[in-house]
Amino acid sequence: MPPAAPTEAAPAAAPTVELAVIVPTFNEIGNLDPLIDRLAAALAPWRWEVIFVDDDSPDGTAAAVRARALIDPRVRCVHRIGRRGLASACIEGIQATAAPLVAVMDADLQHDEALLPTMIAALADPDAGLDIVIGSRNVDGANADSLTPARRLVTGIATRAARLVVGTDLADPMSGYFMLRRSVFAEVVRGLSGRGFKILLDILASAPRPLRYRELPFQFRPRHAGESKLDPSQIWEYGVLLLTKLFGGVVPIRFVLFSLVGGLGTVVHMVALGLGFGLLGLSFVVSQVVATVLAMTSNFVLNNLVTYRDRRLKGRGLVIGLLSFYVICAIGAVANVGIARWMFAGLEVWWAAGLAGALVGAVWNYAMASLFTWRITH
Ligand code: GDD
Ligand code: MN
Repeated sequence: MPPAAPTEAAPAAAPTVELAVIVPTFNEIGNLDPLIDRLAAALAPWRWEVIFVDDDSPDGTAAAVRARALIDPRVRCVHRIGRRGLASACIEGIQATAAPLVAVMDADLQHDEALLPTMIAALADPDAGLDIVIGSRNVDGANADSLTPARRLVTGIATRAARLVVGTDLADPMSGYFMLRRSVFAEVVRGLSGRGFKILLDILASAPRPLRYRELPFQFRPRHAGESKLDPSQIWEYGVLLLTKLFGGVVPIRFVLFSLVGGLGTVVHMVALGLGFGLLGLSFVVSQVVATVLAMTSNFVLNNLVTYRDRRLKGRGLVIGLLSFYVICAIGAVANVGIARWMFAGLEVWWAAGLAGALVGAVWNYAMASLFTWRITH
């Protein structure tokens, strides 16, 4: 009799890997060896692997990971080129493992690896029925004394905002240290925003059902080697993430920002018009043209700084962008007046006609500026 054909689902007696630890890295070369050694000590009874997801760090972190992987098969490297981002790095690391349990932790030894066995035990407890366990700096028995006062303040505000938006009563929704089942991650992965720093919050807010979690205290240590990558643009990204979740994806947050900038532009316009016509005694048409150009320019600058901050134009791109923005706004203005005129002819309600015109103009400007000026393709 011929031997049975191998099937894909021929499970070994035990899985080859029970836990994967995902570690996003950017310039962490000095932390790799101590982290791997500590993981090996803490996870001795388990079959585990550690996956470093490196965004092409200039310090050569990825090459150092591969060098270690050559002598230790539990060490793996995902080396991304031309991309940055903590959250998206975590997502790709999780997607790259077959392990049924997945943990995310920082490379800089701030997260106490001795908590990992406790996390595994909590998830394994059938009575608890947990989806995710979180290493928390804010529950009894924990501490985060190694945070600077400024950092503590930012974290405090961000935590409160998160509680409001996600509606969770988590003590430390900002934590970057947690463990969950792969199957739970599979439920949420398609809804993740993947932006910025806050992967845990992203997971909690994107889940189609409330996730059952438990926070476990640990001592947040000072960073070992290297420096923190949290900067103001990460804080900005965080705000965008919260607002996106707040509006439930119904109204794109960019459009809200774009409209706010546009509203401010109206103020700029009226002030300039008043100054030119009223104060300087320019003709009305000249004043109106100058005011319009000024308002468009200030809208462009603000949108570049705020609305499209993540795709900010610079140098030559800034000039081309500004010109394209003028053209788009000019067409938007024609559409605005056309629609308003047509509505007014039929309805004779001046404010409804004016509002409809302004709305059509705003939507047009937003769609076209997104597409052409800041080139958003998705
Ligand atoms: N691949 C990749 N790409 N990794 C990154 C990137 C990136 O763009 N930015 C940061 N990392 C890695 C770092 O190398 C480190 O291993 C980990 O992500 C955390 O970055 P840190 O720069 O050490 O962040 P932190 O200590 O200031 O912030 C920590 O505390 C926050 C709460 O206060 C992190 O744990 C955050 O997740 C946490 O929210
Ligand atoms: Mn850190």
